[in-house]
Amino acid sequence: MLEQAKSLLEETKNFSAKSIEEVEAFRIKVLGSKGELKKLFAEFKSIPNEDKKEYGAVLNQLKEAAQDRVNELKAALADAVTSADDKMDLSRPVNAELGSRHPISIVKNQIIEIFNRIGYQISEGPEIEDDWHNFTALNFPPEHPARDMQDTFFVAKNPDMALRTHTSSVQVRVMENNQPPIRTISPGRVYRNEAISARAHCFFHQIEGLYIDKNVSFADLKQTLLYFAKEVFGEETKIRLRPSYFPFTEPSAEMDVSCSICSGKGCNVCKYTGFLEILGCGMVDPNVLENCGIDSKVYSGFAFGMGVERIAQLKYNVNDLRLYSENDKEFLSQFKAEI
Ligand code: DAH
Repeated sequence: MLEQAKSLLEETKNFSAKSIEEVEAFRIKVLGSKGELKKLFAEFKSIPNEDKKEYGAVLNQLKEAAQDRVNELKAALADAVTSADDKMDLSRPVNAELGSRHPISIVKNQIIEIFNRIGYQISEGPEIEDDWHNFTALNFPPEHPARDMQDTFFVAKNPDMALRTHTSSVQVRVMENNQPPIRTISPGRVYRNEAISARAHCFFHQIEGLYIDKNVSFADLKQTLLYFAKEVFGEETKIRLRPSYFPFTEPSAEMDVSCSICSGKGCNVCKYTGFLEILGCGMVDPNVLENCGIDSKVYSGFAFGMGVERIAQLKYNVNDLRLYSENDKEFLSQFKAEI
């Protein structure tokens, strides 16, 4: 009996199988309710006392080994079946829908491409920003309302760390780390503590532009923005610069483009003015240059900042900002990317 048990243990250890059915037949033969193991256990009584200990140990080993072998072989064969299935029909046509590019990405890429053509490079900065880069270096006075909790999301109530409220923070980082000539655009997401509605959102996207060199003038700014407006909205587009105020530019302006919907004749989108506001701009304030380690007596420059959603709204006539972040497939599938 002992010999029989030992040889079955040996057989079990060496057992291998090519199919799940073979493993199952083996399991029934050894472990089944009428199987070999059951019979061997039943013989226990007839084993001489001095051999009982060894016999019992061999049976226990046999039981364990058989269970392990069955489990191992079943798992290996199941894996083989799935990977064989995977490999089976690679040529089968896939009925998968192709995604489309998000309208914000389409517009952002288009704007980047337009500025790349005239020598602007891309720069990016962190979305969690410190007070220096988001406000102080940009000449915001300490009591400026934009620093208020009402407008800014602070990180864990730390007054020094906030979600950036604009991509102008990237200007500071670029100027701190590079000497002129600098020509850069900085696309990115920005955050403001606003109630969400059709016209306002707590996050949106901006593109910041910065050009610093010797003798850069307001005329350069105007010509650059005119080129940009014509590229985005068409050759017929006119621009208009209105005096404005930003802490980081002096003088500052807001730029309007002629309404592409009514060609400047007046409609409800442009509120019958014929023009639409699209960005803020100005000559970089000498204080900002100095804050960033650039000699304001040698260099001058201009900056501008625009909202990507605003440009997309005008290009695609989308009048509810919330649509951009709702992931509605019906909405998104209407957009086709050229780049
Ligand atoms: N940072 C401004 C904003 O978020 C936009 C802006 C205005 C950027 C004028 C500029 C600029 O670089 O010169 O509203």
